[in-house]
Amino acid sequence: MYSARQLDRARDLAYRHSGITLGDNKDVMISNRLDKLKRSLNSDDIDAILALVENGHHIEIFVSTFTTNKTNFFRETFHFDDLKERVVKQAIESNQPLKIYCSAASTGEEPYSILMTIEEANREYKTALSSYSLLATDIDLDVLKHASSGIYEWNKNADDFPSWIKPAEYFKRRAHPTKEDDYLIKVKDHLMRKVRFDQMNLMSVSYPFKSEEFDVVFCRNVLIYFNQDDQNAILKKLFRTLKLGGTLYLGHSESPLELAPYVERCGQNIFVKTKEYL
Ligand SMILES: C[S@@+](CC[C@H](N)C(=O)[O-])C[C@H]1O[C@@H](n2cnc3c(N)ncnc32)[C@H](O)[C@@H]1O
Repeated sequence: MYSARQLDRARDLAYRHSGITLGDNKDVMISNRLDKLKRSLNSDDIDAILALVENGHHIEIFVSTFTTNKTNFFRETFHFDDLKERVVKQAIESNQPLKIYCSAASTGEEPYSILMTIEEANREYKTALSSYSLLATDIDLDVLKHASSGIYEWNKNADDFPSWIKPAEYFKRRAHPTKEDDYLIKVKDHLMRKVRFDQMNLMSVSYPFKSEEFDVVFCRNVLIYFNQDDQNAILKKLFRTLKLGGTLYLGHSESPLELAPYVERCGQNIFVKTKEYL
């Protein structure tokens, strides 16, 4: 059991370092994360740990402990259908390159799904995109390390692929080191070369991108962790990096909030930028 003061200190630190807002109904979750933090730092003294974090130590471990990284390949598949059938198709037809930003990439399933979608579109439309690039960022260094390894458990992911994806094109299968009947899959090099992973905090005051740099921005299932003012601030910064006519994909319970007048909804949580926000 943690005291109200310990829970509040953890709440303040989570907000200060990641923007994650943990309401009063999250006490059980905070307690579980503090247990995990104690295990990671091999210490039972939570006050001493919190004092260290407050003084700037173990920030990465703290942030990694407080992020929720749930993701899977082709989560909310309709976004990948739209990417293939509308966005990539249009880019191929107009012979334009595509620059894509995935802003909460977690362990990598989302950016690799984006790449597989583009590769399948190239195959289906029998003409390749002239060129494309994908930047994938997250605040959590642990998940970025996993994403960069490109290694996943096959059984966990076997049902995640839509019928139009041929996993054998994109993954090598390996025996599982500890589970006899299981496999690991490793993203093939030709796909791994197409993505750059980097650390970025969406709460940063400004983003290191030019205005209208990206044709597509994925910001899915991360805004839900922030309060409404911060969601609006993040959306505005992301919006500035999106080209006019570009596409913003949000998670299933997220919305463009104050940017609603500047976008046209063209599918479930799919928004096309129609006007510049000034
Ligand atoms: C639930 S996962 C969503 C992953 C993926 N976008 C999806 O929809 O499956 C949320 C991710 O947001 C990241 N995150 C949380 N706070 C962040 C912040 N301030 N800046 C960047 N990423 C953040 C977490 O580390 C986590 O990997």
